[in-house]
Amino acid sequence: MPELTTSPSPTSHFRQPIATLQRKGAQVSILDQTLLPFRSERRVLASLPEVADAIRAMRVRGAPLIGATAAYGVAIALASEGGTDDVLERALALLAATRPTAVNLHWALDRMARALHPLPPDARGARAWAEADAIASGDEATCAAIGANGLQILADIAARRAGPLRVMTHCNAGWLATCGAGTVLAPVYAAHAQGIDIEVLVSETRPRNQGLLTAWELREAGVRHMLIADNAAGLLLARGEVDVVITGADRIAANGDTANKVGTFLKALAARHAGIPFYIAAPHSTLDFDCADGSRIPIEDRGGDEVRTVRGLDRDGNIAELQLAPEATAVLNPAFDVTPAGLISGIVTERGVAEPGRLRDLYPECAR
Ligand code: MRU
Repeated sequence: MPELTTSPSPTSHFRQPIATLQRKGAQVSILDQTLLPFRSERRVLASLPEVADAIRAMRVRGAPLIGATAAYGVAIALASEGGTDDVLERALALLAATRPTAVNLHWALDRMARALHPLPPDARGARAWAEADAIASGDEATCAAIGANGLQILADIAARRAGPLRVMTHCNAGWLATCGAGTVLAPVYAAHAQGIDIEVLVSETRPRNQGLLTAWELREAGVRHMLIADNAAGLLLARGEVDVVITGADRIAANGDTANKVGTFLKALAARHAGIPFYIAAPHSTLDFDCADGSRIPIEDRGGDEVRTVRGLDRDGNIAELQLAPEATAVLNPAFDVTPAGLISGIVTERGVAEPGRLRDLYPECAR
């Protein structure tokens, strides 16, 4: 996918309350998301293995943020080990193997490879930092443009009804998942800033409970919201207590089939049954025109312990893990599911809103 430019938008003033990913000179730090929403702590990533581990262990998570972090991982590897072909190839391969579903990771690594391969080894270090910076700042601008485009959808629905606009989401696709305002939450923050009365229904998102991150973000931003158990979504949709569902995406196939956090598909099914619009909000780095349809999207299987255990605060205020199911319990833990294009009302990108099968109209330079 070629590099794209985005135009300024009404949400471009959004600043992350805490930087999810920050570079100061040759030092890169992240906000450790495994400690949220209880503790807000930064962690310096000083080596390639530390970057790979942070992505694998979901200290950084969310498709766009994973991509930008991996780009800095390449720069860190070259800075500490030199710019030879061997170091570059090893860094690209190690980072590409960390998580399979979010295509943003592979998009960012491809972009780093395209920028660095033609250069002599001693010119690669400086260029790697510059390219990683460009990926991170590009994501911030992209989020702002998604916010502006999604705002139009929310404002239209809000104008047609009395009372608060009720938005349901799943997982976390806010500023914590990106280098900017987020994808799903960018339009929500923009609507809130415009004075639209908005309320967000946030599903827990077992097993990793990314919904708790969404609830934390929204509370910090003063946006009204309610945390719901994942299994409550069907009832609330069927009762008409939701006006629109919007989720993020980790990979969108050429035909519009969309992979996102497991549980998204069930919300799309229930929304269709109830006649409620279901949108995806995602940047160009999530589009995979090489992937014909959702059946080709690799779905990450994560360890059984994520399902057997739950993390929270103990009575002394320490972050603790509690065993829900005995160690010997057999577990299946697919981390994503695929929502067929036919269940999606539209895909909100930085270039506008497309019908799922018509993404090529927005990205003609990428069409095959
Ligand atoms: O496993 P995670 O937490 O990295 O998954 C995150 C999601 O599925 C998000 O909804 C998606 O990446 C969109 S992020 C803007």
